[in-house]
Amino acid sequence: MSSEKWTAFWKEHGQVSKSSSMQEQVLRTYNKQAVSETVWSNTLQYITDHLELQRDDVVLDLCCGNGLISQYIAPECSKVVSVDVTPEFVDSLSKLDLPNVETVCANVSQLEFPKGSFSIIIIYAGIQYFSLAEVVSLFKKFAYWLKPGGRLFIGDIPDISKTWNFYNSPEREAFYFESCENNNDVVGTWFDKQWLLKLSEYAGFSHTFAIEQPMEQIYSHFRFDFKATKK
Ligand SMILES: C[S@@+](CC[C@H](N)C(=O)[O-])C[C@H]1O[C@@H](n2cnc3c(N)ncnc32)[C@H](O)[C@@H]1O
Repeated sequence: MSSEKWTAFWKEHGQVSKSSSMQEQVLRTYNKQAVSETVWSNTLQYITDHLELQRDDVVLDLCCGNGLISQYIAPECSKVVSVDVTPEFVDSLSKLDLPNVETVCANVSQLEFPKGSFSIIIIYAGIQYFSLAEVVSLFKKFAYWLKPGGRLFIGDIPDISKTWNFYNSPEREAFYFESCENNNDVVGTWFDKQWLLKLSEYAGFSHTFAIEQPMEQIYSHFRFDFKATKK
């Protein structure tokens, strides 16, 4: 499924999910159950531990949704620039009027920033909405936008080696192959860890790590996380 189809999907979802919970709005659900508060608060702590946030960090939060991560990390850093394509989500974060959060309603693929604008880039539960070709271009931009020593954290990445942990019954497998035939996988793009590690080296990153998620996280059976440092 192309990123244009995904942005259309999310824009429609943003309109119909206005009265849903914050977690349901960003579809952080499994078997129609939203993630529990305890698991989500542990996940936020886990993300910030990996980011190693410093007071002077300037953070770019891409595909930020309604800002569940941005608003948590904002008090710990100098500034957060939060970008999402869904107007309702960006509005709900803007309305919080957080002093050091700047919101941008835009397609991540079309963003431009000056060289070295950020010390951290995070994209959590968002990379699957881009094709492999778009991800190559994005990695080059991430390397350009980050200062030397800046950190990239990509979370909740569909792991191609665990496809059958997700499509885990004959019915789900049939659904998967039908969606493949229509180029319409409900998860989005699946990634090979080695592919991401090689891409990040090619794009100018070092200290690259694919990270297994803690088992309590609701998608840990088919997703992984990734971090890298700009050379
Ligand atoms: C699963 S939600 C994750 C939201 C947030 N990162 C979080 O973890 O709470 C995915 C988000 O990606 C956004 N998105 C998808 N494609 C995008 C694109 N091309 N540019 C900007 N945002 C996009 C959607 O609007 C949605 O808010």
